[in-house]
Amino acid sequence: MTTVGEIHAVNPRMTCRRVNVYYGDKHAIKNVSIDIGRNEVLAMIGPSGCGKSTFLRCLNRMNDTIEGCRVTGTITLDGQDIYDPDLDVVLLRAQVGMVFQKPNPFPKSIYDNIAYGPKIHGLAQTRAELDEIVETSLRKAGLWDEVKDRLDHPGTGLSGGQQQRLCIARAIAVSPEVILMDEPCSALDPIATARIEELIHELREQYTIVIVTHSMQQAARVSQRTAFFHLGDLIEVGPTDRIFTRPRHPLTEDYITGRFG
Ligand SMILES: Nc1ncnc2c1ncn2[C@@H]1O[C@H](COP(=O)(O)OP(=O)(O)O)[C@@H](O)[C@H]1O
Ligand SMILES: [Mg+2]
Repeated sequence: MTTVGEIHAVNPRMTCRRVNVYYGDKHAIKNVSIDIGRNEVLAMIGPSGCGKSTFLRCLNRMNDTIEGCRVTGTITLDGQDIYDPDLDVVLLRAQVGMVFQKPNPFPKSIYDNIAYGPKIHGLAQTRAELDEIVETSLRKAGLWDEVKDRLDHPGTGLSGGQQQRLCIARAIAVSPEVILMDEPCSALDPIATARIEELIHELREQYTIVIVTHSMQQAARVSQRTAFFHLGDLIEVGPTDRIFTRPRHPLTEDYITGRFG
């Protein structure tokens, strides 16, 4: 199936070419090619089961952890093949961080949630450097003022929205290039959701963000480009305002006008 629209980004950070994903016999992603641009928020939308999470997981090789899952095609990050057998997957997952649907802080203190990654990646030589990374990451995630006086409290004691910002701070702490978010607001109330959306705006200056969302309003609010998936095909991709005002493919139009989904 040929994708309608502009799969190319002006300044690509990641490129995906002819990507296929199989779970055993099930063909879950079908020959998808798309670029992910620098400092852009790319939204991935489409009906439940169309392959959004599966495709997102290709971008940092999280599918490697799923038994029976096979990925073919080529995906690069800054020109490097991320499926190169010599590549350090732990490092890749720091460069391409991930935030999940349900906030999943470690059962550790707020401080240790952030410090854990930098420690294992050797990003800090001294306690002062580690403190610095923890503070900077929490500031970038818009959480510092709320937690600075209780860094030793458990991360799991925070509200849902705060936990999700803690998870974003944890991803930021290991200096990622790209941050993947899989329906990051689906467990949050509207106020916490608005807070995360604001944060996504701010983070775009420094990071490339790919967000899966079941909310078309959210895609319209936070992204510059939108990709519409249907039954494992990438049907259409293009500038978000164009996708929502003048979709070119009838399936995209049916989806955004609420005829199915
Ligand atoms: N671990 C798995 N094993 C087998 N099939 C899976 C697995 N994960 C997802 N699938 C199937 O792959 C398709 C795409 O799923 P998914 O990527 O979760 O879709 P979405 O995130 O768009 O809802 C679905 O048909 C789903 O049932
Ligand atoms: Mg999903």
